[in-house]
Amino acid sequence: MTDQATPIPLGAEISSIDARQEKLLQPLEASILTPEKLEYARQVIEKDKAIKPFWVKKYKTEAAKNWDRFYKRNETRFYKDRHWIEREFTVFKDSKLNDDGSPATIHCLEVGCGVGNFIFPVLERNPNLFMYACDFAPHAIELVKQHDDYKQGRCSAFVCDLTKDPLTDTIAAGSLDVVSSIFVLSAIPAEKLEAAVRNISDVMKSGGMLCFRDYAVYDAAQVKFSSNPGHMLDTNLYVRQDGTLSHFFSKEQIKELFEKEGFTTVECEYVHRETINRAMDISIDRRFLQAKFIKK
Ligand SMILES: C[S@@+](CC[C@H](N)C(=O)[O-])C[C@H]1O[C@@H](n2cnc3c(N)ncnc32)[C@H](O)[C@@H]1O
Repeated sequence: MTDQATPIPLGAEISSIDARQEKLLQPLEASILTPEKLEYARQVIEKDKAIKPFWVKKYKTEAAKNWDRFYKRNETRFYKDRHWIEREFTVFKDSKLNDDGSPATIHCLEVGCGVGNFIFPVLERNPNLFMYACDFAPHAIELVKQHDDYKQGRCSAFVCDLTKDPLTDTIAAGSLDVVSSIFVLSAIPAEKLEAAVRNISDVMKSGGMLCFRDYAVYDAAQVKFSSNPGHMLDTNLYVRQDGTLSHFFSKEQIKELFEKEGFTTVECEYVHRETINRAMDISIDRRFLQAKFIKK
Protein backbone atom coordinates (compact mmCIF):
# COMPACT_ATOMS: atom_id res chain seq x y z
CA MET A 1 0.00 0.00 0.00
CA THR A 2 1.45 3.40 -0.93
CA ASP A 3 0.59 6.64 0.81
CA GLN A 4 -1.15 7.84 -2.34
CA ALA A 5 -4.92 8.06 -2.32
CA THR A 6 -7.01 6.12 -4.82
CA PRO A 7 -8.71 8.15 -7.57
CA ILE A 8 -12.40 8.91 -7.82
CA PRO A 9 -14.24 6.99 -10.56
CA LEU A 10 -14.67 8.69 -13.91
CA GLY A 11 -18.02 9.22 -15.54
CA ALA A 12 -19.98 10.00 -12.38
CA GLU A 13 -22.57 12.76 -12.51
CA ILE A 14 -21.23 16.29 -12.30
CA SER A 15 -21.21 17.57 -8.77
CA SER A 16 -19.51 20.93 -9.24
CA ILE A 17 -19.91 23.24 -6.30
CA ASP A 18 -20.10 26.10 -8.84
CA ALA A 19 -23.23 24.84 -10.52
CA ARG A 20 -25.11 24.35 -7.28
CA GLN A 21 -24.01 27.74 -6.11
CA GLU A 22 -25.19 29.44 -9.24
CA LYS A 23 -28.62 27.94 -8.70
CA LEU A 24 -29.04 28.09 -4.96
CA LEU A 25 -26.84 30.79 -3.58
CA GLN A 26 -27.37 34.47 -3.20
CA PRO A 27 -24.17 36.54 -3.12
CA LEU A 28 -23.71 38.61 0.02
CA GLU A 29 -21.29 41.53 0.37
CA ALA A 30 -17.61 40.73 -0.19
CA SER A 31 -15.91 39.38 2.92
CA ILE A 32 -12.29 38.73 3.73
CA LEU A 33 -11.39 35.26 4.95
CA THR A 34 -10.30 35.51 8.58
CA PRO A 35 -6.74 34.38 9.46
CA GLU A 36 -8.31 31.40 11.32
CA LYS A 37 -10.24 30.27 8.25
CA LEU A 38 -7.16 30.65 6.05
CA GLU A 39 -5.09 28.64 8.52
CA TYR A 40 -7.75 25.90 8.59
CA ALA A 41 -7.81 25.80 4.77
CA ARG A 42 -4.00 25.62 4.62
CA GLN A 43 -3.90 22.71 7.06
CA VAL A 44 -6.57 20.69 5.23
CA ILE A 45 -4.88 21.26 1.85
CA GLU A 46 -1.38 20.48 3.13
CA LYS A 47 -2.52 17.09 4.47
CA ASP A 48 -3.92 15.98 1.10
CA LYS A 49 -1.82 13.77 -1.19
CA ALA A 50 -1.65 13.37 -4.96
CA ILE A 51 -3.25 10.27 -6.48
CA LYS A 52 -1.10 7.68 -8.26
CA PRO A 53 0.95 8.92 -11.26
CA PHE A 54 -0.92 6.56 -13.63
CA TRP A 55 -4.21 8.34 -12.83
CA VAL A 56 -2.65 11.80 -12.87
CA LYS A 57 -1.39 11.18 -16.40
CA LYS A 58 -4.72 9.71 -17.49
CA TYR A 59 -6.79 12.65 -16.21
CA LYS A 60 -4.42 15.20 -17.74
CA THR A 61 -4.44 13.39 -21.09
CA GLU A 62 -8.22 13.01 -21.14
CA ALA A 63 -9.14 16.57 -20.10
CA ALA A 64 -10.34 17.64 -23.57
CA LYS A 65 -12.45 14.50 -23.99
CA ASN A 66 -14.01 15.01 -20.55
CA TRP A 67 -14.90 18.66 -21.22
CA ASP A 68 -16.49 17.62 -24.50
CA ARG A 69 -18.56 14.97 -22.67
CA PHE A 70 -19.51 17.64 -20.15
CA TYR A 71 -21.05 19.83 -22.89
CA LYS A 72 -22.67 16.85 -24.59
CA ARG A 73 -24.39 16.03 -21.31
CA ASN A 74 -25.18 19.53 -20.00
CA GLU A 75 -25.52 21.46 -23.27
CA THR A 76 -26.28 25.11 -22.39
CA ARG A 77 -27.88 24.33 -19.01
CA PHE A 78 -24.85 24.52 -16.72
CA TYR A 79 -23.43 28.08 -16.65
CA LYS A 80 -25.43 31.25 -16.25
CA ASP A 81 -24.72 34.27 -18.47
CA ARG A 82 -21.83 36.24 -17.02
CA HIS A 83 -23.32 39.75 -16.92
CA TRP A 84 -20.89 40.87 -14.21
CA ILE A 85 -17.89 40.86 -16.51
CA GLU A 86 -18.53 44.31 -17.94
CA ARG A 87 -18.74 45.67 -14.39
CA GLU A 88 -15.35 44.19 -13.52
CA PHE A 89 -13.70 44.66 -16.92
CA THR A 90 -14.97 47.99 -18.26
CA VAL A 91 -12.75 47.68 -21.33
CA PHE A 92 -15.64 45.72 -22.90
CA LYS A 93 -17.79 48.86 -22.74
CA ASP A 94 -15.19 50.97 -24.55
CA SER A 95 -15.60 52.60 -27.90
CA LYS A 96 -12.88 54.04 -30.08
CA LEU A 97 -12.90 56.13 -33.23
CA ASN A 98 -11.21 55.82 -36.59
CA ASP A 99 -9.29 58.83 -37.97
CA ASP A 100 -12.41 59.91 -39.87
CA GLY A 101 -14.48 59.94 -36.65
CA SER A 102 -16.43 56.76 -37.42
CA PRO A 103 -16.64 54.08 -34.68
CA ALA A 104 -13.72 51.61 -34.86
CA THR A 105 -14.16 47.91 -34.22
CA ILE A 106 -12.62 46.55 -31.02
CA HIS A 107 -11.28 43.07 -31.71
CA CYS A 108 -11.64 40.64 -28.79
CA LEU A 109 -11.12 36.97 -28.07
CA GLU A 110 -12.63 34.85 -25.34
CA VAL A 111 -10.47 31.78 -24.73
CA GLY A 112 -12.22 28.68 -23.36
CA CYS A 113 -15.56 30.28 -24.23
CA GLY A 114 -17.69 27.26 -23.28
CA VAL A 115 -21.18 27.77 -24.73
CA GLY A 116 -20.86 31.57 -24.95
CA ASN A 117 -22.24 32.75 -21.60
CA PHE A 118 -19.94 35.72 -21.76
CA ILE A 119 -19.68 36.61 -25.44
CA PHE A 120 -23.37 36.98 -26.26
CA PRO A 121 -24.36 39.39 -23.42
CA VAL A 122 -21.31 41.54 -24.19
CA LEU A 123 -21.90 41.60 -27.94
CA GLU A 124 -25.50 42.63 -27.35
CA ARG A 125 -24.48 45.63 -25.27
CA ASN A 126 -21.53 46.91 -27.31
CA PRO A 127 -22.11 47.14 -31.07
CA ASN A 128 -18.45 48.07 -31.62
CA LEU A 129 -17.08 44.68 -30.62
CA PHE A 130 -16.05 41.78 -32.78
CA MET A 131 -15.56 38.64 -30.69
CA TYR A 132 -13.52 35.60 -31.56
CA ALA A 133 -14.32 32.70 -29.26
CA CYS A 134 -12.48 29.41 -28.96
CA ASP A 135 -12.69 26.25 -26.89
CA PHE A 136 -11.15 22.80 -27.22
CA ALA A 137 -14.54 21.09 -26.74
CA PRO A 138 -16.17 20.69 -30.19
CA HIS A 139 -19.65 20.31 -28.62
CA ALA A 140 -19.30 23.69 -26.89
CA ILE A 141 -18.34 25.41 -30.15
CA GLU A 142 -21.24 23.73 -31.95
CA LEU A 143 -23.63 25.12 -29.30
CA VAL A 144 -22.12 28.62 -29.66
CA LYS A 145 -22.70 28.45 -33.41
CA GLN A 146 -26.31 27.36 -32.93
CA HIS A 147 -27.07 30.36 -30.67
CA ASP A 148 -29.65 32.81 -32.11
CA ASP A 149 -27.21 35.70 -31.66
CA TYR A 150 -24.33 34.02 -33.48
CA LYS A 151 -24.06 36.44 -36.40
CA GLN A 152 -21.38 36.63 -39.06
CA GLY A 153 -19.60 39.94 -38.89
CA ARG A 154 -19.97 40.08 -35.06
CA CYS A 155 -18.32 36.87 -33.89
CA SER A 156 -16.38 33.82 -34.97
CA ALA A 157 -16.10 30.62 -32.93
CA PHE A 158 -13.58 27.85 -33.52
CA VAL A 159 -12.14 24.75 -31.89
CA CYS A 160 -8.64 25.26 -30.50
CA ASP A 161 -6.56 23.66 -27.79
CA LEU A 162 -4.78 26.69 -26.40
CA THR A 163 -1.86 24.60 -25.24
CA LYS A 164 -0.99 23.31 -28.72
CA ASP A 165 -3.00 24.79 -31.64
CA PRO A 166 -1.59 28.16 -32.78
CA LEU A 167 -4.26 30.88 -32.51
CA THR A 168 -2.47 32.57 -35.41
CA ASP A 169 -3.93 29.84 -37.67
CA THR A 170 -7.27 31.70 -37.30
CA ILE A 171 -6.49 35.20 -35.99
CA ALA A 172 -3.91 37.62 -37.44
CA ALA A 173 -0.81 37.90 -35.28
CA GLY A 174 -0.72 41.03 -33.11
CA SER A 175 -4.28 42.06 -34.01
CA LEU A 176 -6.39 41.84 -30.82
CA ASP A 177 -7.28 44.68 -28.45
CA VAL A 178 -8.75 42.55 -25.64
CA VAL A 179 -8.64 38.90 -24.54
CA SER A 180 -10.68 37.38 -21.72
CA SER A 181 -9.76 34.25 -19.80
CA ILE A 182 -12.58 33.47 -17.40
CA PHE A 183 -12.22 30.24 -15.35
CA VAL A 184 -10.15 28.66 -18.14
CA LEU A 185 -6.46 28.57 -17.17
CA SER A 186 -7.57 26.64 -14.06
CA ALA A 187 -8.51 23.79 -16.40
CA ILE A 188 -4.93 23.56 -17.72
CA PRO A 189 -2.11 21.71 -15.89
CA ALA A 190 0.71 24.01 -14.70
CA GLU A 191 3.30 22.57 -17.11
CA LYS A 192 1.20 23.68 -20.11
CA LEU A 193 0.30 27.18 -18.92
CA GLU A 194 3.29 28.97 -20.43
CA ALA A 195 2.52 27.59 -23.88
CA ALA A 196 -1.11 28.70 -23.53
CA VAL A 197 -0.20 32.24 -22.45
CA ARG A 198 2.42 32.56 -25.22
CA ASN A 199 -0.19 31.45 -27.75
CA ILE A 200 -2.60 34.15 -26.51
CA SER A 201 0.15 36.79 -26.50
CA ASP A 202 0.96 36.08 -30.15
CA VAL A 203 -2.45 37.34 -31.35
CA MET A 204 -2.54 40.44 -29.11
CA LYS A 205 -1.53 43.99 -30.04
CA SER A 206 1.14 45.67 -28.03
CA GLY A 207 -0.93 47.64 -25.46
CA GLY A 208 -3.79 45.11 -25.64
CA MET A 209 -5.45 44.04 -22.39
CA LEU A 210 -5.91 40.53 -21.01
CA CYS A 211 -8.76 40.17 -18.48
CA PHE A 212 -8.37 37.22 -16.11
CA ARG A 213 -10.62 35.73 -13.45
CA ASP A 214 -10.19 32.28 -11.97
CA TYR A 215 -10.13 30.14 -8.83
CA ALA A 216 -7.73 31.19 -6.05
CA VAL A 217 -5.87 29.15 -3.47
CA TYR A 218 -7.86 28.44 -0.29
CA ASP A 219 -11.19 28.80 -2.10
CA ALA A 220 -13.90 26.71 -0.42
CA ALA A 221 -13.95 24.40 -3.44
CA GLN A 222 -10.27 23.58 -2.88
CA VAL A 223 -10.86 22.89 0.81
CA LYS A 224 -13.75 20.64 -0.20
CA PHE A 225 -11.56 18.70 -2.65
CA SER A 226 -8.83 18.24 -0.06
CA SER A 227 -11.33 17.18 2.61
CA ASN A 228 -12.26 14.20 0.41
CA PRO A 229 -8.90 12.71 -0.68
CA GLY A 230 -8.67 11.14 -4.12
CA HIS A 231 -8.98 14.35 -6.18
CA MET A 232 -5.51 15.89 -5.99
CA LEU A 233 -3.25 15.56 -9.06
CA ASP A 234 -0.51 18.10 -8.25
CA THR A 235 -0.03 21.05 -5.93
CA ASN A 236 -3.29 23.05 -6.16
CA LEU A 237 -4.58 20.92 -9.08
CA TYR A 238 -7.60 18.61 -8.65
CA VAL A 239 -9.87 16.44 -10.78
CA ARG A 240 -13.63 16.83 -10.53
CA GLN A 241 -16.04 13.92 -10.43
CA ASP A 242 -16.59 14.28 -14.20
CA GLY A 243 -12.85 14.16 -15.05
CA THR A 244 -12.39 17.91 -15.70
CA LEU A 245 -9.51 19.69 -13.95
CA SER A 246 -9.46 22.61 -11.55
CA HIS A 247 -6.34 24.49 -10.51
CA PHE A 248 -6.30 27.11 -7.72
CA PHE A 249 -3.95 30.06 -8.37
CA SER A 250 -1.96 32.29 -6.08
CA LYS A 251 -1.34 35.93 -6.96
CA GLU A 252 2.38 35.27 -7.23
CA GLN A 253 1.94 32.33 -9.62
CA ILE A 254 -0.33 34.16 -12.05
CA LYS A 255 1.74 37.38 -12.03
CA GLU A 256 4.92 35.44 -12.69
CA LEU A 257 3.28 33.47 -15.50
CA PHE A 258 2.10 36.57 -17.40
CA GLU A 259 5.11 38.78 -16.65
CA LYS A 260 7.46 36.06 -17.91
CA GLU A 261 5.53 36.02 -21.20
CA GLY A 262 5.87 39.79 -21.72
CA PHE A 263 2.86 41.29 -19.92
CA THR A 264 2.74 44.10 -17.37
CA THR A 265 0.44 43.61 -14.39
CA VAL A 266 -2.10 46.41 -14.01
CA GLU A 267 -4.18 44.76 -11.31
CA CYS A 268 -4.08 41.37 -9.58
CA GLU A 269 -6.22 40.88 -6.48
CA TYR A 270 -8.03 38.19 -4.55
CA VAL A 271 -11.80 38.63 -4.63
CA HIS A 272 -13.78 37.18 -1.73
CA ARG A 273 -17.43 36.25 -1.88
CA GLU A 274 -19.38 34.81 1.00
CA THR A 275 -22.31 32.90 -0.40
CA ILE A 276 -25.21 31.32 1.44
CA ASN A 277 -26.64 27.96 0.49
CA ARG A 278 -30.18 28.48 1.76
CA ALA A 279 -31.20 24.87 1.12
CA MET A 280 -28.36 23.51 3.26
CA ASP A 281 -28.23 26.53 5.59
CA ILE A 282 -24.47 26.99 5.26
CA SER A 283 -22.24 29.84 4.17
CA ILE A 284 -19.38 29.25 1.75
CA ASP A 285 -16.24 31.37 1.38
CA ARG A 286 -15.37 31.65 -2.27
CA ARG A 287 -12.01 33.08 -3.22
CA PHE A 288 -11.19 34.11 -6.75
CA LEU A 289 -8.27 35.85 -8.40
CA GLN A 290 -8.97 38.75 -10.72
CA ALA A 291 -6.31 40.45 -12.85
CA LYS A 292 -5.64 42.73 -15.79
CA PHE A 293 -2.44 42.44 -17.79
CA ILE A 294 -1.20 44.65 -20.63
CA LYS A 295 0.91 43.18 -23.42
CA LYS A 296 4.16 45.14 -23.73
C1 LIG B 1 -15.09 26.49 -16.42
S1 LIG B 1 -15.35 26.53 -18.15
C2 LIG B 1 -15.53 28.28 -18.41
C3 LIG B 1 -16.31 28.63 -19.65
C4 LIG B 1 -16.46 30.14 -19.92
N1 LIG B 1 -15.18 30.83 -20.00
C5 LIG B 1 -17.35 30.78 -18.89
O1 LIG B 1 -16.83 31.55 -18.08
O2 LIG B 1 -18.54 30.48 -18.88
C6 LIG B 1 -13.71 26.19 -18.77
C7 LIG B 1 -13.66 26.09 -20.28
O3 LIG B 1 -12.31 26.01 -20.71
C8 LIG B 1 -12.22 25.10 -21.79
N2 LIG B 1 -10.82 24.65 -21.87
C9 LIG B 1 -10.13 23.95 -20.94
N3 LIG B 1 -8.87 23.70 -21.35
C10 LIG B 1 -8.77 24.26 -22.58
C11 LIG B 1 -7.71 24.31 -23.56
N4 LIG B 1 -6.52 23.73 -23.33
N5 LIG B 1 -7.93 24.96 -24.72
C12 LIG B 1 -9.16 25.53 -24.96
N6 LIG B 1 -10.19 25.49 -24.11
C13 LIG B 1 -10.00 24.87 -22.92
C14 LIG B 1 -13.22 24.00 -21.42
O4 LIG B 1 -13.64 23.24 -22.51
C15 LIG B 1 -14.35 24.84 -20.81
O5 LIG B 1 -15.28 25.22 -21.79
